[in-house]
Amino acid sequence: MPGAFTGRSKGDAVKDWYKAMAFYQIWIRSFYDGNNDGIGDLYGVYEKLEYIKSLGVDGIWFSPLYPSPNADYGYDISDYKNIHSDYGDLDIFKKVLDRAHELGLKVIMDLVINHTSDEHPWFIKSRQSRNNPYSDYYIWRDAKHGKLPNNWDSLLEGKAWEYCPERGQYYLHLFAKKQPDLNMDNPAVREEVKSIMRFWLDMGVDGFREDVINFISKADGLPNGNPFIPVANGMPYYKDGPHIHEYLGEFRQVAEEYDCFLLGEGPMTTTRSALSYLTGRHKTLDLMFHFEHMMADCFMTEYIRRPFSLVKLKKAFSKWQYELEGRAWNTLYLENHDHPRIISRYGDDKRFHRESGTMLAACYLFQQGTPFIYQGQEIGMTNIRLSSIEQYADVSSKNNYYRFHTKDPVTKRLERIYASSRDSARTPMQWDRSAHAGFSKVKPWFYVNPNYRKINVKSEEADEYSILNFYRKCLAYRKRSKVVLWGTYKEYCRTDNYIYMYERSYRGKKILVVCSFADHNIRWRLPRAFAHSRGKLVLCNYPVHTPHTLAPYEARVYEIRNVKDKANNRL
Ligand code: GLC
Ligand code: CA
Repeated sequence: MPGAFTGRSKGDAVKDWYKAMAFYQIWIRSFYDGNNDGIGDLYGVYEKLEYIKSLGVDGIWFSPLYPSPNADYGYDISDYKNIHSDYGDLDIFKKVLDRAHELGLKVIMDLVINHTSDEHPWFIKSRQSRNNPYSDYYIWRDAKHGKLPNNWDSLLEGKAWEYCPERGQYYLHLFAKKQPDLNMDNPAVREEVKSIMRFWLDMGVDGFREDVINFISKADGLPNGNPFIPVANGMPYYKDGPHIHEYLGEFRQVAEEYDCFLLGEGPMTTTRSALSYLTGRHKTLDLMFHFEHMMADCFMTEYIRRPFSLVKLKKAFSKWQYELEGRAWNTLYLENHDHPRIISRYGDDKRFHRESGTMLAACYLFQQGTPFIYQGQEIGMTNIRLSSIEQYADVSSKNNYYRFHTKDPVTKRLERIYASSRDSARTPMQWDRSAHAGFSKVKPWFYVNPNYRKINVKSEEADEYSILNFYRKCLAYRKRSKVVLWGTYKEYCRTDNYIYMYERSYRGKKILVVCSFADHNIRWRLPRAFAHSRGKLVLCNYPVHTPHTLAPYEARVYEIRNVKDKANNRL
């Protein structure tokens, strides 16, 4: 397969296997509890590896499995070379890894190196004095004229500075207070990162997802940001910072010693900045997660709600497809542990649960790139409604609740949290209709969504037209279609408010994907470009369909053939 497609960039001859793959993301705490203490773990993952394989994916991305006090559920790490005791130990990890490999599944780990936990031994030593070997591992500053060192806000919790009486200085935390930022300008810190990478690569993992990686190099002098921009005010000084390519280049060199790939998470990244990581001299990353298509019903963050705009969604999809075409490779995703459930946002989780859940699968899985599916997405899990803010576990949901719109009535504030909380993606996976959704035999660590009796793996397995089986069909089709894997992309009817339609084309073969985002029937015509074409319907989320009408949230995939006679237009 390598060599036969357009998407490969120069100098990328060997490590391109990830391009033809699809990944499943596991946020372990809520995946499956194998030892019945209420918390998902690696024993549970081991039992479910065949299920994961059955979806038609080729790899797993694990959100952090490491020891962590869980101020940000694993993204605050206190030991990078071990497994959290809630999830097992290195032996069971190795067993999962080996079994995954036997099944032909690659495994990538989360590499969270912008910050550690404040309970990491490096920080515990760093905070003790200004002249020990770890003093310079973090970003410490004196107060400025009796105030904070600068005006940056943190992205998860209050201001970005926290005072440490022990050392008489402030430390920087772009995320929660318990997540002090590492000082990446210190070569010793970069050596630690490389040593962590080698530790896991030597064990046999196949790559990393590098957390908030475009934030790790901060501008000299840490200048004040625009005081009128809340939350993101410091971003111009820490996003794509001055030494970012140099540092990532060093990490890349370690990766080059192994047959692995690097995927960076790039909050607020644009196509232009992503290309600076994905191409050219640096090419420090193979893939990058961007957030643009996650903003079609909000502004900047999910917390600031806007009505869903299909045109906005299509614009983001197409921009990334067109601008990376032939230059770099896209990642495709609609959900992960940081966003509320997609079906509750861009679909209709009440009246058209199955229809919109399947359509959303089709709308992204046939684009060019490496798809990611987040646990529970494949059965159409939905947002959970909790009745008070105390019931939420996520630090950013609590921060948003207590920091913004505090004068609004509680019901309105809770409604915003319902629509935006990351906790909706973190409820226990719904395996069957037994107690606790079959996730555990005892009460789980977090609330199970009450809709589990209807939405669960077991019942969807049994239903040919379920969301689960539609994901399987899409992934199987992807895998056998060179057009889907390697073809170019072209969008039709860009300004239509209901239909998303795109073509993929590869060596004279074409497919057309047609998705309705309407909750009612709509009339539909083929674009003029297809006047001389005949289409064979290869995938549809309705058992029966009417040629020129799309039912609510209908999705169709056609294989297109050119025919000379116009009268033969039979799509
Ligand atoms: C990333 C993670 C998110 C975490 C943040 C800080 O965005 O995906 O869960 O809160 O980084 O580590
Ligand atoms: Ca457990």
